[in-house]
Amino acid sequence: MKNICIIGSGHVGLVTGACLAELGNKVICMDDDVSKIEGLHKGVMPFFEPDLDDMVRRNVDAGKLSFTASVEDAVKDSGIVFVCVGTPQKPDGEADLTQVEIVAQRVARAMHDYTVIVEKSTVPVKTGGWVKRTIELNNINNADFDVVSNPEFLREGKAIYDFMHPDRIVIGAESERAAQVLLKLYEPMKAPVIVTNIATAELIKHASNAFLATKISYINALANICESVDADIAKVAEGMGYDRRIGRDFLNAGIGYGGYCLPKDTAAFIRIAEEAGYDFELLKAVRSVNEHQRQQLFAKVKKELWNLNGKTIGILGLAFKPDTDDMREAPAIDIIGKLLEENVQIKAYDPQAMEISRTIFPDIQYCKDAYEVAEGSDALVIVTEWNEFKNLDLEKVRLLLRQPIIIDGRNLFEPDEMSRLGFIYRGFGR
Ligand SMILES: NC(=O)c1ccc[n+]([C@@H]2O[C@H](COP(=O)([O-])OP(=O)(O)OC[C@H]3O[C@@H](n4cnc5c(N)ncnc54)[C@H](O)[C@@H]3O)[C@@H](O)[C@H]2O)c1
Repeated sequence: MKNICIIGSGHVGLVTGACLAELGNKVICMDDDVSKIEGLHKGVMPFFEPDLDDMVRRNVDAGKLSFTASVEDAVKDSGIVFVCVGTPQKPDGEADLTQVEIVAQRVARAMHDYTVIVEKSTVPVKTGGWVKRTIELNNINNADFDVVSNPEFLREGKAIYDFMHPDRIVIGAESERAAQVLLKLYEPMKAPVIVTNIATAELIKHASNAFLATKISYINALANICESVDADIAKVAEGMGYDRRIGRDFLNAGIGYGGYCLPKDTAAFIRIAEEAGYDFELLKAVRSVNEHQRQQLFAKVKKELWNLNGKTIGILGLAFKPDTDDMREAPAIDIIGKLLEENVQIKAYDPQAMEISRTIFPDIQYCKDAYEVAEGSDALVIVTEWNEFKNLDLEKVRLLLRQPIIIDGRNLFEPDEMSRLGFIYRGFGR
């Protein structure tokens, strides 16, 4: 059996590689960041993802998973090549596909036998056609090949579970031979499989992420209404969520979405629509509601603290969501940046993201836990809904704070209970 190779060993690539090895395949993960590969050789994960280190170690020890910084080494014995490189956002919102193109060129030059090149990165519809053309232009060994789109839907923090138990597997293929290769690979998963053409598969990914962003902005728009009519957004979400046509997930009001996927994928989808001749006003509104939420948080802080100049604010949570150390497009970046502009002293704590945060904000004070953050702060701001924040000893927090003010960007607590405990507590939509 031929190997599987993964190009781009980041959040998606490394998880994909480890999980496919766990399923019994021989996998080689490649990255052009040599320090990442050196780290992986020593068992150092390039990012935090629960249980990933164990899975990687287990499969390396079993001889099923290896790492390289050389595309040639990765591709030479591989029948399937997963492209998992980044597709960052350009200033105009369009997806930057430079990494995808470079990889397509290099893989094409390294292929010898029939190879299925799988787009796993999130890419705009029609990228498959460009990848195919790039490979044709660089196919120096005249190898037989197919391009397939197989978008990834995993969530950081739950990536292994999501990869192993997907809600669905989408395969966009234009040859029966390539579709069969992927169907066989995913056979152990027992998930619904949608086989379609490449463009449809590419579109399913952007359509799904844009829809999730829409759900978040919808509940946030409602939260703003709730605040002026004395309604409780948590109950509104519960009441809506029991309706199976709606569902409760992604209906948590607060400071909105961040991370590597939803912001860039909504921006890219707006551009894709534009190029297709459609003005996607709905998604533009989704994005502006999301921006508004971050400003709302700042406005709430200002409203409770009056003057910000010289005050100390404690930030709980830096990662864009719990169970990850990822701070790409994290709301914390905007919020801390804005507070620093007002000459606020920042104390911060996050269970995983402080190392990354130090590279962004080297001069704020990092604390060992939430209590140290609370000590002497004029207010606490909850930015990420880590479980350990839900279980804080709130009496202790109140005694440590200089002023008992909590602005909760994630609606972790019950407002009535918080005022009974003596806090001035402001969430969203309650
Ligand atoms: N992070 C997520 O939760 C998630 C979920 C689903 C889909 N996606 C999509 O998957 C893709 C990858 O996202 P990610 O979060 O894994 O990004 P990442 O930044 O964590 O990983 C990308 C990796 O590709 C490597 N790379 C870049 N150029 C390379 C090259 N020429 N050769 C080899 N390696 C190269 C980088 O060094 C990096 O390690 C994106 O398109 C993203 O939108 C991400």
